[in-house]
Amino acid sequence: MPRQGETSAKGLVVLGGSREPRPPGEVWLVGAGPGDPELLTLKALRVLGTADVVVHDGLVSDEILDLAPPQARRISVAKRKSRHSYSQDEIGRMLVAFALDGLTVVRLKGGDPFIFGRGGEELEACREAGIACYVVPGVTAALAAGASAGAPLTHRGAAQAVTFVTGHAAKGGEPDLDWAALAKANQTVVIYMGLSQAGVIAGRLLAAGRDPSTPALIVENASRADERRVLTTLAGLAAAAEALSGPALLIFGEAMAMAEAQVLSVPPSVRSTSPALRASRGGR
Ligand SMILES: C[S@@+](CC[C@H](N)C(=O)[O-])C[C@H]1O[C@@H](n2cnc3c(N)ncnc32)[C@H](O)[C@@H]1O
Repeated sequence: MPRQGETSAKGLVVLGGSREPRPPGEVWLVGAGPGDPELLTLKALRVLGTADVVVHDGLVSDEILDLAPPQARRISVAKRKSRHSYSQDEIGRMLVAFALDGLTVVRLKGGDPFIFGRGGEELEACREAGIACYVVPGVTAALAAGASAGAPLTHRGAAQAVTFVTGHAAKGGEPDLDWAALAKANQTVVIYMGLSQAGVIAGRLLAAGRDPSTPALIVENASRADERRVLTTLAGLAAAAEALSGPALLIFGEAMAMAEAQVLSVPPSVRSTSPALRASRGGR
């Protein structure tokens, strides 16, 4: 080991007071699941237990954060309205900087890191910096929402496919989605970040030909103690969304008729043309 002023094996001069250079650490992109700590995977729990630093977003509950070692530094990069929010570039640089300092960094994200979680950008930032980066999948919100409502996302004869889309438009305004494809029957569509755009989304789907009586479910805070679910139809989606504030998913498709939720009162014209919903409620 070189003493102060000596040259190390790599040709670097060791300066007085500086710390021994540490080998680079690593970054773990870990899915924390939808909120219920019991939906954390065993691997996520194990990796969290090795963290020197936990960089987390706003959807990760305190119950889960408390599973990190007490000495681990916690940094919230949640989006904030009033104070500075970290940009995606800043988050990437932060992960890399901690890892270059020899630390094990756990980047804890709600749901799954690769489902609307921007895990791809963070993985790229690590790759570009030559930092080892590993991904631990998590239970994405859609799976928790379907499970707690008792509504399968795919169902023989009612939903041959399931599609996850974002209702958030990159530059604000209306989401740029393939409305004709999403309007086809016998499939489930799950919309993340779509609550504030529910009226626009429903309008586009109806214009593209999706049946107004298609069962639609909104699940807020899926898997958490304060979860709320509203079952309505595509025609009633916008009105139902107004009562909720998120985080929430909009889910529509024939299989959602199986959902156990509060049924929002919808105009009789809509209700009477919704055989799937009527059948699932015993003809009511
Ligand atoms: C930035 S995305 C992150 C999605 C996350 N990576 C996942 O796999 O669930 C945030 C959106 O996910 C949805 N979401 C996340 N957690 C949720 C939950 N517990 N219940 C309902 N929706 C949730 C909401 O639409 C929210 O606006």
